[in-house]
Amino acid sequence: MEKDALNIIATRHSTRKFKPDMVAESLLDQVIEAGRRAPSGKSKNQNHFLVIRDQAILAKLVELVQSEFAKMEITPENEANIGGAIKLSKKGNYVFKYNAPVLIVVANQENYGNNMADVSCALENMLLAANALDLGACWINQLRWLNDNPVLQAYLQELGLKEGERVYGSVSLGYPDTPDGLPNRNITSIKGNEVTYIG
Ligand SMILES: Cc1cc2nc3c(=O)[nH]c(=O)nc-3n(C[C@H](O)[C@H](O)[C@H](O)COP(=O)(O)O)c2cc1C
Repeated sequence: MEKDALNIIATRHSTRKFKPDMVAESLLDQVIEAGRRAPSGKSKNQNHFLVIRDQAILAKLVELVQSEFAKMEITPENEANIGGAIKLSKKGNYVFKYNAPVLIVVANQENYGNNMADVSCALENMLLAANALDLGACWINQLRWLNDNPVLQAYLQELGLKEGERVYGSVSLGYPDTPDGLPNRNITSIKGNEVTYIG
């Protein structure tokens, strides 16, 4: 079904429950291509997409993220951001990527001023493409929070992260585990995000 761009934007929501089925290659390719087509500062196009479909590797990442968060302590400074992750990890039931069969990790150069902005553009493009293709997706921040953690950094380098690269965000992707198999597309009213018109 074809939907126009504004409708795809208005109906995009996070999916956090997925069917175990692997995403069809043709759909995954379109999501990745949407990420690769995102704008970037000075058209640098230096986002690096690590597309992880190997379930054993995903399980290892889940285990590492949980064990690294579990070593941390909640402080007044980190509570609002990673406090929840630390608390759940200490309990031993923290699955940061939910049960999605695919995790798309997006990295960029650490010493580049637009790293977060360029990755964010790619992530949003992929979230919108997922909605257009009836897939479920969710922005996943945990690997960014741990992007200076030596254990995670070493494992991601084994998987293909290059020298000088850091992770600035990820997307969990899969078929939504909903009664109709479609992502939630309720159009909700938006609070916040103030607009000031001048003139
Ligand atoms: C920068 C950023 C980081 C986010 N990190 C996470 C995350 O780590 N885990 C998660 O479940 N959702 C994450 N989200 C998704 C938001 O919670 C979600 O987009 C928001 O609550 C609005 O809900 P909706 O996407 O369903 O419209 C993140 C979104 C953004 C933009």
